[in-house]
Amino acid sequence: WLIAIITLAVGYLVGSIPFGLIVTRLAGAGDIRKIGSGNIGATNVLRTGRKGLAAATLLLDMGKGAAAVALGGLIDPAHGPVLAGVMAFIGHCYPIWLRFAGGKGVATMMGVVLALHWPSGLVFAGVWIAMLLLLRWSSVGGMSAAISAPLSAYALGHPQLAQGFAAMTAIVLWRHRANIHRLRAGTEPKVGAKH
Ligand code: G3P
Repeated sequence: WLIAIITLAVGYLVGSIPFGLIVTRLAGAGDIRKIGSGNIGATNVLRTGRKGLAAATLLLDMGKGAAAVALGGLIDPAHGPVLAGVMAFIGHCYPIWLRFAGGKGVATMMGVVLALHWPSGLVFAGVWIAMLLLLRWSSVGGMSAAISAPLSAYALGHPQLAQGFAAMTAIVLWRHRANIHRLRAGTEPKVGAKH
């Protein structure tokens, strides 16, 4: 039990580091929560016009998901990777440091999925990039990729992992409810669009 609690706590703490906020602040680009959608993810960092900062946010948010999976495996090789990975994702979406107002989870979920089952991670990345190029809504790309993860894990013979992925997918969709509302209203901005 103690091991499980330590694993969950380590995962949560790693995931709760708000890299988008930190990176933009360190670069003197202001408070990302007051720009665009107010989200702390790479898509919104891109709205500052600083592509390098957006790329750094994407990589760091993915990296912390993968790092949590690796740390979880060191603590408890059997269940640690999944427990710490899912908790890192929850930490990203609901960080205690920001009064639980965190990100939407796409980049962190991709890092977790890649580290737990790289073929599903590759599908995730492929769906994300393809939808982004086709439709240019970051939210649609992210949600489509998140939906692909439990489907590919299941199809590739990992039904238990698919359940863990599905839990993250549900939270990704919930965190995008404002985006879904804007998409239905026809007001969701496309990536790269001036607004
Ligand atoms: O992963 C977040 C992205 O899908 C949407 O971000 O800032 O457009 O709400 P944003």
